[in-house]
Amino acid sequence: MTAEPGLPDTLRDLPAWTPDAIELADLELLLAGVYRPLAGFLGSFDTAMVIGGGRLADGTPWPVPVTLAVPKDLTGHDRVVLQDPEGVPLAVLDVAETWQDPTSQGWRLAGPLEPLRAPAHGPFHRLRRRPDQIEPHEGAVLAVATREPLHRKQLGQLRQVAEQLDAGVLVLPLLGGRYDEALVRALLAVRKELPEGSRVIPVPLPRRDGDERRDVLLRSHVAAAYGATHLLSEEEVEGTAIPVAVPEPWAYDADVEVWRPVARIEPDHVQAELTRERLEELLDRGEPIPDWFTPPAVAAELAVARPPKHERGLTVFFTGLSGSGKSTVARGLADALVERGGRTVSLLDGDVVRRLLSAGLTFSRADRDLNIRRIGYVASEITRHGGVAVCAPIAPYAASRAEVRRMVTAAGGFVLVHVATPLEECERRDRKGLYAKARAGLIPEFTGISDPYEEPDDADLVLDTSAMTPDEAVARVLDLLVAGGWVRGG
Ligand code: ADX
Repeated sequence: MTAEPGLPDTLRDLPAWTPDAIELADLELLLAGVYRPLAGFLGSFDTAMVIGGGRLADGTPWPVPVTLAVPKDLTGHDRVVLQDPEGVPLAVLDVAETWQDPTSQGWRLAGPLEPLRAPAHGPFHRLRRRPDQIEPHEGAVLAVATREPLHRKQLGQLRQVAEQLDAGVLVLPLLGGRYDEALVRALLAVRKELPEGSRVIPVPLPRRDGDERRDVLLRSHVAAAYGATHLLSEEEVEGTAIPVAVPEPWAYDADVEVWRPVARIEPDHVQAELTRERLEELLDRGEPIPDWFTPPAVAAELAVARPPKHERGLTVFFTGLSGSGKSTVARGLADALVERGGRTVSLLDGDVVRRLLSAGLTFSRADRDLNIRRIGYVASEITRHGGVAVCAPIAPYAASRAEVRRMVTAAGGFVLVHVATPLEECERRDRKGLYAKARAGLIPEFTGISDPYEEPDDADLVLDTSAMTPDEAVARVLDLLVAGGWVRGG
């Protein structure tokens, strides 16, 4: 085995920077020549012209600003190494301009790129190709550049347009979303429904802020770079790099049970489309996706990407004062869920977390926030893998609770339970004797006594354990989970 070539000596002393996900995708496409004529990240003038009029400073049409943001301490260098999230150097940026974004005041670096190593981060590298690795195709090529699977309707439209143009078909799954793997597999699965020789090449092109029109324009540039002569698009858009082909409307003919152009269907035989809401509802309940809507292989990928709620990962996050009963209810819930089976359950209790995961942290605001972020990170990983995380820290600050909600929601379900037992009751219980010590001034920054607790206004359930038994409290949480579809009833 040969050792990976290291960084050349001349580059070892350069500052290194890991761009964000969109910038890394841009970097990969710049290096692959997909963004030609762009050779690097744009400077202030080009950026202003692109935002203002959809053209580079020299008049060449270009739809979106391709820029690189860096922290201030990375300015003032001639060359900067750009690396992937694992720290693998991908390219050297020769800094031609250091500029500040007029709106955000954030720093930007512009300039050409010198490639070091082919990017290897992100999914499906085996299928990715640079445009110069593709054999040119004789005649027309119809591209579909998509972040969604192709269902029977889109497949029919694609086949029809390809036939009209006498074109080969190029499917470009656009990576950068939450369901990249399922997207690519769902598109590979329908290859046999497409004309012979159709190709599937994943391209990193995350959705970015801005209008849909500019997204279509960018997709047209990418498709053109890959040799497409036409881009399939739902709507007509001016100024695309290659002509847009808009399919005629199709619908499902319930009489003969096929999808076909609406113009060829008796009006009273047109079956209503399956809406996105209805599709998500079916997936959430684990009910079958009808065969008339999408091929079974696509339905299977959808079900993997969006499993039924009762099988999906979930975090139940308890928040409340020390002594409020969080740990007791959380433990009771964890036991009840384990008894029901089907999913693994991890209990992340406040005091237990502080013994290992957050050992050494104090009760300052900064350390409490870090403690909650760590709990949130672990909970989101558990959730991503389809387990249940039951968390029970005090979590006194709304902002860090909101951050946990954000992290976990990207991976699965999140339920916030406020254990709102009154302070007097917590203090009366004082099981650990901490309130007495806090009152005596022996424990500083004690939540509820000498430190704040911000009451949640976004709790899915509020429990007061002074008014119910622990079993009742657990039953209330279970009822909520059953009502939300997260746990099966009975
Ligand atoms: S949090 O604020 O960071 O969410 P966490 O739930 O981890 O707190 O820890 C709270 C537990 O630490 C309490 O149940 C109590 O036993 C103990 N503790 C020790 N000092 C304090 C303090 N100053 N404030 C609150 N809890 C404390």
